[in-house]
Amino acid sequence: MTNFLYYFLNIFNMLFSLFMIWVMIKLLFIKEYRECPPYVPSFGQEKKFITQRVGEILANTTETKTILDPGCGTGTLLISLAKKFPQHNFIGIEWGYIPYLITKLKGRKLKNLTVIHNDMFKCSFKEADIIVCFLMQPLMERFGKKVKEDAKKDLIVFSNSFEIPNIKLSEKIETNRFLFVKNIYVYKDVFQTL
Ligand SMILES: C[S@@+](CC[C@H](N)C(=O)[O-])C[C@H]1O[C@@H](n2cnc3c(N)ncnc32)[C@H](O)[C@@H]1O
Repeated sequence: MTNFLYYFLNIFNMLFSLFMIWVMIKLLFIKEYRECPPYVPSFGQEKKFITQRVGEILANTTETKTILDPGCGTGTLLISLAKKFPQHNFIGIEWGYIPYLITKLKGRKLKNLTVIHNDMFKCSFKEADIIVCFLMQPLMERFGKKVKEDAKKDLIVFSNSFEIPNIKLSEKIETNRFLFVKNIYVYKDVFQTL
């Protein structure tokens, strides 16, 4: 038993080290990886406000809406909404294999949830009526360009914590996290010039 545990821990250690080396190599040599946000789920007031505001829109419409989370992580924003609003469609895009699998597993019973394992910049945002996202500042300009290229006329975007510099802001919701003030940025007319 002790031998088994010893071998198991050694193999685990080796695989983990290889994984970390692979992550380091990607971070060193691939610019896109350096600019992209790591996995941190939305939580606290930001999560509450975004799900509340999106929930209000979905509850007050008779049309079927599509809600997209590019970089959906483990589906923190999408899954609770998808459970509450079975009449609307939810799409998550995630390039990390582990968070992608976790979202698939958590949402396996939801017929209105699609999870795509891919780079968001290789996917289309054209179906989205609402985008919810939690990304990172170095990515926001490229993200804004992609949103503008693909957006439907009435698209609404809720961005947790990070502003999209090349899209005109419609509303800023301030939230308090411990001693920090965080913001949710809302964009209602992505075609309006700055
Ligand atoms: C900060 S987490 C946010 C997770 C989730 N949206 C939430 O609010 O809880 C950002 C996620 O975006 C993913 N991501 C980063 N760049 C991406 C890309 N280019 N394509 C797809 N996913 C990406 C990361 O792997 C990570 O899981």
